[in-house]
Amino acid sequence: MEVSWNELNESIRACRLCPLAEGILNKVPGQGNANARLMLIGEGPGAEEDRQGLAFVGAAGQLLTRMLAAIGIKREEVFIANAVKCRPPGNRVPKSEETAACLPYLRAQAALIRPQVILLLGATALRAVLGQEKRITQCRGQWIVSKGVFILPTWHPAALLRDPSKKRDAWQDMRALRDKLAELPLKQAT
Ligand code: URA
Repeated sequence: MEVSWNELNESIRACRLCPLAEGILNKVPGQGNANARLMLIGEGPGAEEDRQGLAFVGAAGQLLTRMLAAIGIKREEVFIANAVKCRPPGNRVPKSEETAACLPYLRAQAALIRPQVILLLGATALRAVLGQEKRITQCRGQWIVSKGVFILPTWHPAALLRDPSKKRDAWQDMRALRDKLAELPLKQAT
């Protein structure tokens, strides 16, 4: 049976399945349109996200907002979540056992939203969702269809801030995303 948003958010709030919950200020479950056509999945909260309890509100989030705007998408239209809902200490990359512990929450969110398209932002999201053996350098820009959902791995916006030469690929991926959403029929209202 599907859980409700309230039950899901309460389980995330109470979760102690991995040690990441120790020492955080806030859980960051993710936010946005609960009936979105597009779901974005990042790595995990940073300092600003931890402070506000909201995903992608720091520098990488601002870039993400501009990237979406460039293809005519407002942040309120999409749902944005992370592979882990708690900030890893010192912003380290979440461990595979941490993303595995958190994956049921991400899956439950996707089951409630029923997105048509999922954009995986970076290696951690890619591996958490599609398998630890996956490599972002190989999978980036390649569509994967799973259970009728179109999944596109792309660079994490923080990687674009560190290495602007990756922006060319990212722009290609954003155009592919725009075209995919244009080609799919609109979702039925729930
Ligand atoms: N990076 C992420 O992966 N997620 C956030 O929420 C913020 C930065």
